[in-house]
Amino acid sequence: MRIVVLTGAGISAESGLRTFRAEDGLWEEHRLEDVATPEAYARDPALVHRFYNARRAAAAHAQPNAAHEALAALAERHDLTLVTQNVDDLHERGGARHVIHMHGQVNRALCAACGHRWDAPAEMDSATECPACGSAAARPDIVWFGEMPYHMDEIWAALERADLFAAIGTSGQVYPAAGFVQHARRSGAHCVELNLDRSAVSREFHEHLIGPATRIVPDWAAGL
Ligand code: OAD
Ligand code: ZN
Repeated sequence: MRIVVLTGAGISAESGLRTFRAEDGLWEEHRLEDVATPEAYARDPALVHRFYNARRAAAAHAQPNAAHEALAALAERHDLTLVTQNVDDLHERGGARHVIHMHGQVNRALCAACGHRWDAPAEMDSATECPACGSAAARPDIVWFGEMPYHMDEIWAALERADLFAAIGTSGQVYPAAGFVQHARRSGAHCVELNLDRSAVSREFHEHLIGPATRIVPDWAAGL
């Protein structure tokens, strides 16, 4: 069976990483316009670096949970394309071998001057230099609002081939990811939502499994 799974912040919530849109979420504490746009980085790079330094530290201290591990095990049995909006590395540390990070990775750095990518140091700031060209233009390798998500051609193609599409722990409020269900459905895939509550695009799915990811994802994966 060809499966495409899309994950969001909800799958890492039980690992202790905050989601974005909960009442105690990251976007309650920070305006996304202040930390997650190219304009914010141009205006106040120090603030943007502090925000992502905190995300990088939190991710490094978190441990993968049963949901991350269940998806890694699923990939051993099926043709699984695992797409995540998350910038943490909990899928990889949970055993997943190939993960498509459509919104980038917080433990990677990107040179705004030459495009070189490398492993980010624990703390980045405006003086962090690119190891390839020497410019002090290092940014976290994160896709900000207004930028094009990564690997989109590969993702659309996988959605078109999928027999089954599952969205896990994502609120369905950010496009293009929120549109994957519609694309998969039109291409003939059975579509399942696994989430703590109904997402903004819930009605597009054929099936809904409601609950915490560490409980519902292993159960669902074991039944495939
Ligand atoms: P959100 O914070 O928008 O949504 C998280 C979803 O996870 C919500 O629907 C919650 O109900 C659900 N959830 C919370 N705890 C859960 C649990 N234990 N088990 C299962 N579900 C749970 O996060 P995303 O949808 O990932 O982009 O946000 C999408 C993008 O918006 C992010 O990648 C980020 C953000 O702005 C960028 O920064 C570019
Ligand atoms: Zn460079």
